[in-house]
Amino acid sequence: MRLFVLGATGRTGSALVAQGLARGHEVTTFGRSAFVGKAKSLRIVVGDPMHANDLAAVLPGNDVVLSALGTRGIGATSVLADGVHATIEAMRCAGVRRLVIVSSSLLDSNIAWFPRFVGRTFLRHHVHDQRAMEKQVTESDLDWTVLRAPRFNNGAFTGRYIVSAESEQTETSGVPMSREDVACMMLDTAERGNHVKQIVRICGARL
Ligand SMILES: NC(=O)c1ccc[n+]([C@@H]2O[C@H](COP(=O)([O-])OP(=O)(O)OC[C@H]3O[C@@H](n4cnc5c(N)ncnc54)[C@H](OP(=O)(O)O)[C@@H]3O)[C@@H](O)[C@H]2O)c1
Repeated sequence: MRLFVLGATGRTGSALVAQGLARGHEVTTFGRSAFVGKAKSLRIVVGDPMHANDLAAVLPGNDVVLSALGTRGIGATSVLADGVHATIEAMRCAGVRRLVIVSSSLLDSNIAWFPRFVGRTFLRHHVHDQRAMEKQVTESDLDWTVLRAPRFNNGAFTGRYIVSAESEQTETSGVPMSREDVACMMLDTAERGNHVKQIVRICGARL
């Protein structure tokens, strides 16, 4: 497949690129700073993910957009909302329909009291931006999948994770997962073509 990765210079994004290449896909990275890496099937493009025209110029021919854009810090931000606005417009122009994008379990209605508290206080700006991003994605006519992820850690790749419906409260809900496993889940979703037009919850699998 031809994968178009946003946020490739980030921690989840770089795992996506490495695993995508290892699975034999062609990977294009697109970001304001150049992804550092070299491989025959890797194309590195520098551009502004907030600008639809920049994106639309390089998107044609790709099968799926995988977005791991994000911001650090806890201040007000609209990176996710602005980024997805440009992405959706560019995908429509370029005729690319499949979008797999990371969101957060903090948006779930049935999370435990502590993450709910964190989402309403310290991380409220993130949650606001993630909600605005999800709204645009779910109202679009693309073949989208939103992955609501729990807290990330820098653990190793296991290839194991649990997927559940947005409304479902599973025994393992909220178990943190490594960015490597988030990347694995995104690639599995892209390859299998499943969870189309669905918001799904993902979490780590207890070993
Ligand atoms: N951390 C958690 O526990 C957690 C839990 C659930 C969901 N998430 C979500 O998962 C996603 C990925 O997280 P991560 O930790 O892998 O992210 P990260 O390492 O901070 O990477 C963020 C990426 O977004 C890009 N970016 C940030 N601001 C930008 C801007 N203004 N314009 C263009 N590009 C910009 C960065 O590019 P540069 O290299 O150019 O800065 C980088 O490639 C985020 O959306 C996050 O909210 C995180």
